[in-house]
Amino acid sequence: MTVSTDHHNEAKRDVTFRVFRFNPQVDSKPYFDDYTIPVERGITVLRALNYIKEHVDASVSYRAFCQAGICGSCGMRVNGISMLACTTQVWEVLEKSREPGIIKVEPLRNLPLVKDLIVDMDPLVGKMTHYSNWVDSTMPEEEMGKKEFLISEEEFLKYDKATDCILCASCVSECSILRANKEYVSPAVLLKSYRMNVDSRDGSHDVRLAELVKDHGVWDCTHCYRCQETCVKSIPIMDAIHGIREDAIEKRGVKDTSGAKHAEAFMDDIAKKGKLVEATLPFRTNGVFWTLQNLLPMAVKMIMKRRTPPPPPMVKPSKGIKVFRSMFREMSEHVKQDHQSHNK
Ligand code: SF4
Ligand code: SF4
Ligand code: FES
Repeated sequence: MTVSTDHHNEAKRDVTFRVFRFNPQVDSKPYFDDYTIPVERGITVLRALNYIKEHVDASVSYRAFCQAGICGSCGMRVNGISMLACTTQVWEVLEKSREPGIIKVEPLRNLPLVKDLIVDMDPLVGKMTHYSNWVDSTMPEEEMGKKEFLISEEEFLKYDKATDCILCASCVSECSILRANKEYVSPAVLLKSYRMNVDSRDGSHDVRLAELVKDHGVWDCTHCYRCQETCVKSIPIMDAIHGIREDAIEKRGVKDTSGAKHAEAFMDDIAKKGKLVEATLPFRTNGVFWTLQNLLPMAVKMIMKRRTPPPPPMVKPSKGIKVFRSMFREMSEHVKQDHQSHNK
């Protein structure tokens, strides 16, 4: 479908939007529709979609409301990356397009598809509920509404950035673990949990933390940083994830979960050898019984293919290990001090 223009000048050009289409009521599988429309410099992807809907094809479905990067409803993938359509400039995306003059628009990943560019946010909302992501006020009910519940500026700074989250689900769409495991807590939920847990007015910290360290929780994150790189509000999501992990180790101890034990074993190897002793990592993380029961078939396959990691005595310390160890000690001390000052 084409609405062409003759004005191929600096301020205006024809752009093809390759839009993902799927209506479960009539389509057996998804497909793409191309819409070529005139686009002026300064136009956002959302305004281009509005143009298509108003002038070319009214059946294209997407969600949007504020048009100002506030409500979080217009999250979609533009040329493969999750972002807000209302704050994304067409011309800026075009500059990086693999196919010149074409912009591909698709729905967010890792959430069920409803129609075209619309995904179902219910699973995300359900996880927010599951992890009790609200301030469970410690103020006695009879005092509510009668006095303020004040917090210090210092405390607010701990979660100031996290309160910028608009629940657009762009980070959810990019999460590598969610692609493999839809039950994984998800980065936006971890961010919100952290925000609640460091709020002194909240009384559900322990309950929330106990849930976060279970299966599909905070220890499943692989530190790929995709969520943080994609966050439309530049929120340091990884700080929140690290914060929850540190909190879990401090409050519940390393024996609490396999994730915590994995982190400890990992750090121990790095401190001693500057590299991982992979052959024993599963035993130290999950114990001998679990490892034999769950990983033996894979270990046999690896032995057959001669791809087993070297046994511990064969793992020699990295080159320059002495210098590395002193740097590692210094860094660990910094992290400890930083953490102590953060928790004062
Ligand atoms: S860092 Fe963790 S939460 Fe973020 S995208 Fe990667 S796996 Fe998901
Ligand atoms: S953390 Fe960032 S990307 Fe994720 S939902 Fe919140 S605002 Fe969107
Ligand atoms: S329409 Fe509200 S954030 Fe884009």
